[in-house]
Amino acid sequence: MRTHPLALITRTLLAAGLLAAPAATQDKPLYLDPTAALDKRLDDLLPRLSLDEKLALIRANGKFRSGGVPRLGIPYLWTADGPQGVREELGLDSWESAKRTDDFVTAMPVGMALASSWDPELAKLYGKVIGEEARARDKHVMLGPALNIQRTPLCGRTYDYFGEDPWLSGRMTVGYVQGMQNEQVAACIKHFALNNQETNRHAINVEADERTLREIYLPAFEAGVKEGGALSVMAAYNKFRGQHAGHHDYLLNQILKNEWGFKGSVISDWSGTHDTREAALNGLDLEMGTVRPYENYYLARAYKEGLLRGEYPMSTLDDKARRNLRVLFTTGAVEGRKPGFINTPAHLDAARQVAQDGIVLLKNTGGLLPIDLTKVKSIAVIGENAVRTFAAGGNAAGVKAFREVDMLQGIVKRVGSAADITYATGYRQPVRRNFWERDGAGVRRSELDPKYLAEAAGLADRAVAAAKTADLVIFVGGLTHQAFADDEGVDRRDLSLPSGQDALIARIVEANPRTVVALISGGPVLMPWLDKAPAVLQAWYGGSEAGTALARVLFGDANPSGKLPCTFPKALADIPAHQGGARTFPGENGTVHYDEGLLVGYRWFDTKHVEPLFPFGFGLSYTSFAYGPLTVTPGSSALEPTLALDITNSGQREGAEVVQLYVRAKKARVMRPEKELKGFAKVLLKPGETRRVNLKLDGRSFAYYAPEAKAWRVDAGEYELLVGTSSRDIRQAGSFKVVKPAVLPK
Ligand code: BGC
Repeated sequence: MRTHPLALITRTLLAAGLLAAPAATQDKPLYLDPTAALDKRLDDLLPRLSLDEKLALIRANGKFRSGGVPRLGIPYLWTADGPQGVREELGLDSWESAKRTDDFVTAMPVGMALASSWDPELAKLYGKVIGEEARARDKHVMLGPALNIQRTPLCGRTYDYFGEDPWLSGRMTVGYVQGMQNEQVAACIKHFALNNQETNRHAINVEADERTLREIYLPAFEAGVKEGGALSVMAAYNKFRGQHAGHHDYLLNQILKNEWGFKGSVISDWSGTHDTREAALNGLDLEMGTVRPYENYYLARAYKEGLLRGEYPMSTLDDKARRNLRVLFTTGAVEGRKPGFINTPAHLDAARQVAQDGIVLLKNTGGLLPIDLTKVKSIAVIGENAVRTFAAGGNAAGVKAFREVDMLQGIVKRVGSAADITYATGYRQPVRRNFWERDGAGVRRSELDPKYLAEAAGLADRAVAAAKTADLVIFVGGLTHQAFADDEGVDRRDLSLPSGQDALIARIVEANPRTVVALISGGPVLMPWLDKAPAVLQAWYGGSEAGTALARVLFGDANPSGKLPCTFPKALADIPAHQGGARTFPGENGTVHYDEGLLVGYRWFDTKHVEPLFPFGFGLSYTSFAYGPLTVTPGSSALEPTLALDITNSGQREGAEVVQLYVRAKKARVMRPEKELKGFAKVLLKPGETRRVNLKLDGRSFAYYAPEAKAWRVDAGEYELLVGTSSRDIRQAGSFKVVKPAVLPK
């Protein structure tokens, strides 16, 4: 009998290992068959594992690694920080740098920059870039994105997060997670939950009521799990209602796993585990930590002994092992993964795009920006942040950047020979690595050290002199991304710019009113000089291409379209978390009370009629946008209206507008914030161009959490739909009537 030519080709490919054989013809076990359903593979594998092999899967055996099962071809699970790029290699058992030369990566801009873009597609690209780099570095799990809500701008990790609004944070999270997980890398959304300050972060107990938990602090995680499909979740350090979040029955078992159906792995924050019994029973799946014998971990020997004594059911171990195996299998760790890429032109360009789209133009009077190089012939660049790099800052989130274009470099490159540039430092901030240095007498050194004060006077004088003689000044200041200034483990002490920058800016503006102030920080700062400075930009920590991005905006190659993901207050005291004394921040007797409840960020400012410095959602453009009339069409179901309106670029330059949709309940049975963001869309328009923007709402857009019913409830009545360019600049309003009250499915 003649062999069919196709069969011949198949046989040849099989022999060469280029084609997987059907499972039935192989004697390899089902768990190694990539064509079989994942749950079937795990069902097949688990009974093959010994007790110790299962235990190896659920705790660290290196700083960023947990054990595999070499006997069965299951590799170690490698994790890495996160979230702005793949952190440098550290020693296997220490926090010391491994001093390698192959771990330089693309530094993506911080979370606040990404959130300021209000662009979930960009978040997807962000996740993809880091995913590709993580693969190139052989990491299976990236410890990010970080998405705790900004309750207070003093929080040391504000820069890492996506701002003060649950909906915006959720959209960014979903984009990031999907972009990364499409690349065979698991995202680890962190820190779950209520990790909203760094002070006493390992022990602080958070008290927040149920509505506040459900409506403010959980929705972005819920979206990351349900829509994003996050494969892992990092449990937070802090306690909630008296129990550590790392092994919290309510948060992990009841909400995350039972209600939301999370099937992946709950990973502890590093050394965030405190009790074997709770770790065994309350939903922790992988214990990670700092250096100590790994055998002493709560989920190691102690757990094994408890299992053998029958104190904990074996099913708890099987479940944990299975969840970690799910991550390993889903990321292709068992079969082997496609190759990764690192520092590609596309990655650096993505970093530039995020930095650029995240820049928020806060003020631009007299059209000072964009800078016209046919008229401006000399520029004084002033400020230490123009020559600082930041990618390594912030501790865990820091990366070893392959390249980091600082602001001065970006400006110099863009200006070329079109104008003369002089640079003056103006002020200098002492380098503070992690925690404050103390002098011999144990006194903390600070920028008020006489050495720095004397130096500062000279630096400021020289800067003012440079400002006087230039056609235009670009001041680049802000924070340092070091201790007490946007750093992990320590909160900021106040919202002021450090090192005499306020006084310096005032002097510079007086010397040369044509001054642009560009601020680099991870969150709001106070601006006592604001009414004098004609142009102000918020640039965040912009990663590898920070300087390129800023220069593109300054000189009009790009039109700024970023919008604030948090309120900038006029004073720290205006922030509700700072109105209850130590009780509400940073806590007293070990507990911090979220007394402001739902009224976080603009929800507070708008409900209580407090005037912000800049409102949530605010950001200017070099062009202008006109909002056409709004139409509201009831959807197919009773709670799914669609909104449509035309947006026109009514100015002279191409630009993007973020159309924001806020919902306000006209009459409410329970307390509702004045308005809440429930949708947005970003549209790019050429001058004169008009585009129709459609926005969809659903039941959750109108709902509040009813603790007594343990459900999301929508009351019947009228809801106002407010569409605008910021939370305080509503351009069109419509309304929607809910005829029948509803209880939403979980
Ligand atoms: C941080 C986490 C980080 C972990 C590992 C912890 O201190 O809170 O965000 O992923 O360390 O570096």
